[in-house]
Order: sequence, then structure tokens, then C-alpha cells
Amino acid sequence: MENKKFYITTPIYYPSDKLHIGHSYTTVACDALARYHRAKGEDVLFLTGTDEHGQKIQDKAAAKGVTPKQYVDEIVATVKDLWQTMDVSYDRFIRTTDDYHVQSVQKIFTALHDKGDIYKSTYKGMYCKPCESFWTEAQLKDGCCPDCGGPVYEAEEEAYFFKTSKYADRLLQWYEDHPDFIQPASRKNEMIAFIKQGLQDTCVSRTSVSWGIPVPFDPKHTIYVWIDALSNYITALGYGNDAYHDYDKYWPADVHMVGKEILRFHTIIWPAMLMALDLPLPKKVFGHGWLLLGGGKMSKSKGNVVDPVQLCDRYGVDAVRYFLLREVPFGNDGSFTNEALINRINTDLANDLGNLLSRTVAMCEKYFGGTVAKAPIDEALAPMMDALPGKVDAAMEALDVPTALIHIFELVQRANKYIDETAPWVLAKNEADKPRLNAVLYNLCSALELIAALLQPYLPNTAPKMAEQLGVEAGELSALLRADTLGQLRAGYTVHKGEALFPRIDVKAEIAYLEAEDAKRKAAAETAAAQAAPAEKAEAPAAGAELIGEHEAEISFDDFCKVELRVAEIRACERMKESKKLLHLTVFDGERERCILSGIAKWFAPEDLIGKKVGIVANLAPRPMMKGKYVSEGMIVAADTDTQGGCAVAFYPDNVPAGARIH
Ligand code: ME8
Ligand code: MG
Repeated sequence: MENKKFYITTPIYYPSDKLHIGHSYTTVACDALARYHRAKGEDVLFLTGTDEHGQKIQDKAAAKGVTPKQYVDEIVATVKDLWQTMDVSYDRFIRTTDDYHVQSVQKIFTALHDKGDIYKSTYKGMYCKPCESFWTEAQLKDGCCPDCGGPVYEAEEEAYFFKTSKYADRLLQWYEDHPDFIQPASRKNEMIAFIKQGLQDTCVSRTSVSWGIPVPFDPKHTIYVWIDALSNYITALGYGNDAYHDYDKYWPADVHMVGKEILRFHTIIWPAMLMALDLPLPKKVFGHGWLLLGGGKMSKSKGNVVDPVQLCDRYGVDAVRYFLLREVPFGNDGSFTNEALINRINTDLANDLGNLLSRTVAMCEKYFGGTVAKAPIDEALAPMMDALPGKVDAAMEALDVPTALIHIFELVQRANKYIDETAPWVLAKNEADKPRLNAVLYNLCSALELIAALLQPYLPNTAPKMAEQLGVEAGELSALLRADTLGQLRAGYTVHKGEALFPRIDVKAEIAYLEAEDAKRKAAAETAAAQAAPAEKAEAPAAGAELIGEHEAEISFDDFCKVELRVAEIRACERMKESKKLLHLTVFDGERERCILSGIAKWFAPEDLIGKKVGIVANLAPRPMMKGKYVSEGMIVAADTDTQGGCAVAFYPDNVPAGARIH
């Protein structure tokens, strides 16, 4: 009989910037699932990749003075390095710039057009550039993009449309007939409500974006990123191309794992596309929650991100993987904090798991020269050990990775308690208790072996280290994960003491260290910012008199009070392709994010400003700029440094909250 297959995918990420811990979150969860299914003997295909087309990448490349392909090549190399660092065992990596994918997407687009499901019309809507999404007025949140909270602008163009609306009823029927299709179940209602409020057809081409796949029969249009991106899940199997030949084997996918913000694309547009192509639908789409930082979603466009490479360097890959896989109930949002990470490492890994192994191994060596013989498993542990693989399996089949780990660690905790209950050091005092002491240590080794075997998909570096200390071949450990060999007892264990699995971290000292590093980074960024403004340094500051110029007429105190000056935090900052002078800033004013275009591009690089707190005029009437394409909502308070427009911006210290009034 052929092995069961398991096809799992991550979203393909935008290589607009280095990936952050949020992307690691999805990818490591998929990796644990892929490894688990491989250990079960299934034929796994684990796909990840990069979504490389679109306006944003075109802009980023232009700002850097390189071609879009050069730009993405560089980032994609860092993405692959990151997955190697994090022990992500993907089987295939798709890039939407790969020729075979481009060729397939053109075929798919043409097929949909031939069928009459893609037609030409005019698009009008509100467009959010970072999200590459058009929104209707009704979808906007406080006039801003409902996904990222950033500014949107009105845009209109000739475009092709996909008849999503035609599939509304079939989609609703599909959800009803396949209750597991959308996960977690709580999000299913959101999708149903979205369809019921009336599905719009989807705009699937752009004439304004050149960095994309041309519509083959109308090449002034490029294919809008979502049709291009979603197709990856089948083009990577060779659908419409000859690069691969396993579409028949792996499609439909078992799981598309995505963040909740793109669940809609995966449960509405993608299935509708597949229906139009007469192809089977994926079995499950899981929309997990967000990893938050300081209460907001970590995002490349906001610039508030945590670098997974730095964390892995400092704490080890498995510690970071464990945190990502265990900390947040899967499906919910959760916060990343250094404290939470360190506490997880200390409590679960160093204390519970590490100590269990080191105490057990040390006692085997001390009392029996390292070798313990087979003995029956005690009632204290046996039922739990017997039930554990089934519980882990149920959790993993339900895509609930944290719960699988919770179950494994229940045995870790139970085994630690078993040491306290059996008190081996007391047994050791009496020669007559030696057989019992042997049995206790054999029980512990046996529990540890099961724990190591079950931990392999989550902690791929730690499990072999545990096996080594237990004197078990790593290969035998893998076999233990298979249902047919689970529960078989070993004739004995000959242990070898090794290094501590996870050294305990001194929480206070570590937090102090991290804060000092943070301060250093900020100081370095400030120095860099100062150096990035050589014009101010090179020329002696202009004489005061020259700078003073004309005075304004005297105003009353009441008039002054009418000017609402506030501290705002710069969340995102980008150069603008429309203007060399202006920077496009997204600032948080304590209540919401607003867009400010500021003529300081000559003096500041975007990276010098992101994360900084500055003064703004908060109640200035919004001003349409660039022919109404942008609306600037305020001004950054800046000082002139010369008569040529040179300027300096004052940064507020960290303890000043965004929104603070300036008087
Ligand atoms: O959306 N918390 O790419 P993207 C949890 N190219 N997960 C996070 C996260 C966070 N803070 N930040 C990112 C795209 N993610 C499209 C996808 S698929 C056909 C095209 C993860 O680079 C999460 O999986 O913006 C989210 O859906 C994905 O990265 C978005 O990555
Ligand atoms: Mg995104």
C-alpha cells in the first residue's frame, strides 16, 4: 500500500524586508507538523516560498537603486538562511519569479478568461499600498486600511476582474458540507458573514504596476499579486509546467497554514479560482492569530519587529522554537516579550525537562555505574505513558501544536513528581532496596525516552541530545514515534552524562542586558542619523540673524492653545517614488495612525526615523498632496539649520508616550 501523503504549505512571504519572528511563527508551526507526519511514516511535502511581485517591492528596489529582481534575490537569500538556522525542514521553496511559476500563472489566467470568469472593466476604490489591497469605503476603518491601519487613497484604472461573486453560493455550500475546511471554527462565521454581505468580483490586474507577470493576451496589464501568489500552491507541484510532476500525488493540500489577515483570500478567492478551474479544493485552511509586540501586530510596514536570528544566536534554536510553538494557544493572538521567552526557557526547558534528564542520568551513574536493567513500568507512570502518543496525535491532527506540547510536558512534570515520591536517594541507603531503585530509574529512563521521541518534531536538536545521554541511538528514537513500535520496552539503559540541555537564565541580569543592548542600538541609530545629515555638519551653522528672518504677528495665549502640538511615534517611513524631497511617514498619535508627508528626505533616511518620537502639529487641516493621491494629516516639528531648507528634528525620550501634549 502506498504511504498516506501529507501536503502542508506556509504563505509565501513578501521579500520586501528581512522576515521577522511573526513569519517564523507560521513556518515553525508548519515544520513541526511536517516533521510529525514524516515521523508517522507519511509521504510529506512541505512547501514554503516567497511572493515577489508588486508595487511595494518595485518601490523598495527603486529606493535602493537596484532592480526588483536584484532586490528580492538578496532578501530571499536571507529567508533561506533563516529557515536553515531555525531547522525548518521544507521540501520545496517556490519563488513567484521562477520561470515555471510565471508560465503556469499565465496559463491559469488565460484559462479563467477563456471560461468567461475573468473579464475587463474599470476599477475604482481605495488602495492601500503596503497591503496591496483595494478596499470599499465600507470596509475602511476610520478612513484607513482595515488590515494595517495605514492611509489609503482613491485609485481608478482599467482592469480585469475575476467573477468571485458567481461562486458565493457554491462557497457557502462547500463550508456547510466540509465543516473542517475553515479553522479555527470561530473564524468560519467571519467568512460566511463576509460572503453574505455581498461578494464583489475581484480585481486581478494592474496597469500601473510593471513588476509583475504580464497578462499574456493584454501585456500592458500585469496580473495582480493575489492570483499570482495563490496559484503557487499548485504551480509548485507542476500544475501547468514541467518543473515538477507531483500534482496528482499531492493535490489537494491537506493544510494551508496562514495568518488570520489573509484567511479571506485563502477561503474565498482561492477556492473560487479552483472551482472555476474545475480543480479540487484544499482540505483545510487554518488562520492562526498574530504575535503582537507592544500591543500591536508586528509588521514589516510598521517597522516594529523582532529578529529571530538574534534570538536563536542568544538562546538557541530549540528554545526559540519551543516558545513559538508553546506560548500562544494556537488560533489566538499572543504577545512576544523577552520576559515571556525567558520564563518559558527557565520553567519548562531548564527546570522541568533539563533537570529531569540530568537528575535521572546522574542517579543512574551514581547508583549503578550508568546501567539500569529492564523493570515493569509503575502504575504511577504507565497509564500516562500509554495514553500520551494518542493524545499528542489527536492534538497534531487537530493542528493544535501547543496542546501536543502541553501533553508531553505533563509527563515531564509527572516524572519529576515521581522522583520526589520514590525518593531514590533514600532507597540508595539500603542494599535491600537496590532492585526497587533500579526499577525507579528504569521507569525514569523509559519516560525520558518517550519524551525525547515525542519531542523530535518540535525540538529537533534537543531530542537527539537526550537520546545520546540515555544511550539510545537517534535512529531508534525516530522509530519510537511510529505507532507500531511505541510502547515497546527496552532491555536496559546505559546512560552518559552530558551538558545541561538548557542552561538556566538569570532573569534580572538578562533583562538588564537586553535593555542595555536596546539602548545601545538606539544610541547607534541616533549617531547614524546625525551622520546621515552631513550637510548640517559640513557647513558651519548659519548665523542666528540670518536664520531668524521675519517675525510673525503677536498672538494671544488662546491662539497659541489652538495649535495642538503632540508627541507622535513614527511607525513606518518610506521614500516616495513621486518625490525626492518627501518622506511618507506613518505616525501614531496616541489614538490612531496617520499619514504625514514631510519634506525632510534630504536630511533623514527612513531607517533613522522609524521608532522615533517626534513633535507634530496634530490639528492642522488634512492636506491633499500629489494630485490628491495622498492626504497629509499634520506636520513634523522641525528646526531650520540653514537658509537652504536644512533641518533638524528633536526626538523625545522613550518615557514620553505617543499622544503627549506639547506646550
Ligand atoms: O501576506 N504574527 O505575505 P507576508 C503571526 N505574500 N504571523 C505573522 C505575523 C505576526 N505578527 N507577521 C507575519 C503575505 N506573519 C502574502 C501571502 S500567500 C499566497 C501570500 C505570518 O510577508 C503569517 O503567516 O505579509 C501571515 O499570514 C504571513 O506571515 C504574512 O506574510
Ligand atoms: Mg502582510
